[in-house]
Parts: sequence; C-alpha cells; structure tokens
Amino acid sequence: MNDKILVTGGSGYIGSHTTLALLQAGYDVVVLDNLSNSSAESLERLECICGIMPEFVKGDVRDRDLLDKIFTDHNIRAVLHFAGLKAVGESTQQPLDYYSNNVLGTVTLCQAMANANVLNLVFSSSATVYGDTTQMPLREDIPTSTPTNPYGRSKLMVEEILQDLAKSDPRWSIALLRYFNPVGAHQSGLIGEDPNGPPNNLLPYISQVAIGQLKQLSVFGSDYPTQDGTGVRDYIHVQDLAEGHLSALKAISLKPGINIWNLGTGIGYSVLEMIRAFELASGRTISYCVVDRRAGDIAECWASASKAENDLGWTAKRGLTEMVSDAWRWQEKNPNGYRR
Ligand code: NAD
Ligand code: WQD
Repeated sequence: MNDKILVTGGSGYIGSHTTLALLQAGYDVVVLDNLSNSSAESLERLECICGIMPEFVKGDVRDRDLLDKIFTDHNIRAVLHFAGLKAVGESTQQPLDYYSNNVLGTVTLCQAMANANVLNLVFSSSATVYGDTTQMPLREDIPTSTPTNPYGRSKLMVEEILQDLAKSDPRWSIALLRYFNPVGAHQSGLIGEDPNGPPNNLLPYISQVAIGQLKQLSVFGSDYPTQDGTGVRDYIHVQDLAEGHLSALKAISLKPGINIWNLGTGIGYSVLEMIRAFELASGRTISYCVVDRRAGDIAECWASASKAENDLGWTAKRGLTEMVSDAWRWQEKNPNGYRR
C-alpha cells in the first residue's frame, strides 16, 4: 500500500485546488467530504485536469467509526483538514452547527488519528484569529485576540486545542495555516468557488454581478482610514494557497510540534481596487453603491509573509491580475457553478 494523504473537505473550494496540487505532485489522495457545501463534480473535474480521480469517501468528519475504517483501509501518512463551515453571518445564527462541525469535527478527527498513530496534521486556520488588532503587517507572533463571531471563535478554539495536543505528545507535527483572503480559481476554469446562495465574500459577489446574476455590489463603507476609504485585505490566489499546503506538509514531516504560518501575499488591496481590476480583466462594468459598514469588519488586514518564506521557501507567485482573470474565467465558463 502506498502512503496516502487524507484530505477532509477535499471537494470544497480550497480543498479541491489542494487535492489537485497533491495529485499533480504524485501523492495518493483520499478525500472525505459530507458534501454539505460542495459537489462531487469538483472531483470529477480534477480528473479532466490531471487524469487522476482521488478516492472519495462521502461522510462526516464527526463520524468516528468511518474515520477508523478509513485509517484501517488506507495507509494514511498525514491529514490536511479543510472540512468545516465558514460563513461568518450564518455562524451567528447557527452557532452550535459551527462548534459541532469545526470544533467537535477536529477533536474527533484527532482522536481517530491518535488511535491510528497518524500524527501529521495541517489545519485550515484563518487570519480571523488575529481579531481586530491594527498592527500591520500581521506576524505570527502577535498574540491572537478573541474573534467577534462564532466562526472565528471556532477557529481560535481549534488552534488552542491543537496547541494543547502538541504539548501533550511531542510526536505530533501540526501546521496551523492562517489563510488571508483566498480568491481566484484554477487557470483551466474547471474548478473554482461555488457558493450556495448569494455570496458573502467580495470576489464571488463581484463575479456574479459581472455575469448578470446579481444586480449591484454593496460596498460596505467608504469612510475607513484607508487610501480610498474602503476596506483593505490581503487577497491570495487559491493556487498559491494550495502550493503553500504542499510546502507545509513537507516541512512538518521534518519538524515536530506546532508550526504556525500565515498564507498571504503581504499586499493589501481596497474594495475599489478589486472592482477596478475585475472590470479590466472581464471587460464588464461592475455596478456598485456604497452602503454602511458591515458589522464586525475591520479597516485593513494584511500578512507578514516572511515566516512562510523563511521556513517553507514558499511565497505567493500570482498577482492581482491573475487572481481576478482566473475568477472571471471560472465564472464565465460555469455561470451556475457545478450545477450545469
Ligand atoms: P468550502 O465550504 O468550500 O469547503 C469545506 C468543505 O468541507 C466542503 O466541501 C464541505 O462540504 C465540507 N464539510 C463541511 N463540514 C463537514 C463535515 N462535518 N464533515 C465532512 N465534510 C464537511 O470552504 P473553503 O473555502 O474551501 O474552506 C476550507 C477551510 O478553510 C475551512 O475550514 C474554512 O474555515 C477555512 N478558511 C477558509 C477561508 C475562505 O475565505 N474561503 C479563509 C480562511 C479559512
Ligand atoms: C472583503 C472586503 C468587506 C462583500 C471573511 C471572513 C474571514 C475569512 C475570509 C474564513 C471587506 C468588503 C465584502 C461585499 C464589500 N474567512 N465587502 N461588499 O470579511 O475580509 O473575511 O472571509 O476564514 O474569516 O471574515 O472577506 O470577502 O467578506 O470582504 O464591500 O458584498 O470586501 O467589507 O472590506 P473578509 P470578504
């Protein structure tokens, strides 16, 4: 049996791009996903791109019996753990679902990993764990601060649980990857972000205005202390993010304990800059109006990318034009996402 990588949440947005990068790098991959926010079509599209389909298990990361069976049936060497819920607004309405999927899901996964003696884990964390600090760029050694919503708190809780776990047993090798704002799609236009219902995030919203599915973008506030008054974020191409996971996976096999890395570009763009870049790439006009600030939003946020560069030899290579062009190609080729 070859060594395999288990990818939880592997049919979702970031998980599918990372699964592709793993397959293309020669890894054998098992995907576990309950399809609560994705379609298995994404995995079929992977086969169109690289000629290989990962093994797929439909199921829930909270299902301990299923996890035990996966670890018995496959020679899993490491787990990339993407599975979880991610909508900030929804998390305030359904906090128990968020704590169950994100926190209980991770605890159950780690129990099954410990039982199977699989002790290499890469976890999808988020820049949200930095809270509302104004110290830019955000470095990994800045103390975390409690996020303002259940989604963010679930990410911080999992980070703390995994730190306790690594302290309790030095054989664990764990990477906490703090993503900034993932955007874009694979350059083939075959896989990309496919939100259920109206998007919460900026780029998919802009894309759906461009394709004519939504009428107008609401720009949340133009009175922030930023260059043009709109919010500034560190947008990172999802393929760069995927490649960052491969680098982290290699690094933790040599470096036990807890390792925290930001995955960002180190560059911030405003909402208006994103709109303009998208208009240029798509040739479409993005209708927008400025409305009040969105509750819980911070003015600006970007990463210090130097720790990942020093430790992993990884930096994001794709710039803003590539991010918005690839997002647009995916949207244009798949106006209804994976629903044909
Ligand atoms: P996504 O919703 O596209 O992918 C998550 C996948 O997990 C989906 O395919 C979903 O069906 C699956 N899933 C959810 N709960 C599950 C469960 N209990 N058991 C099995 N599968 C389950 O989201 P994404 O954007 O690809 O995010 C992946 C991870 O990265 C998430 O943990 C998210 O919190 C984290 N993250 C995302 C962003 C972002 O902006 N997209 C930023 C920071 C961190
Ligand atoms: C980006 C900018 C908005 C939508 C969220 C989560 C974070 C992480 C990534 C998972 C902000 C503005 C947005 C719109 C707008 N997710 N905006 N109109 O808020 O930085 O981060 O996703 O971990 O935890 O909070 O991303 O894409 O929602 O917003 O003006 O319709 O676009 O105010 O300045 P955010 P976003």
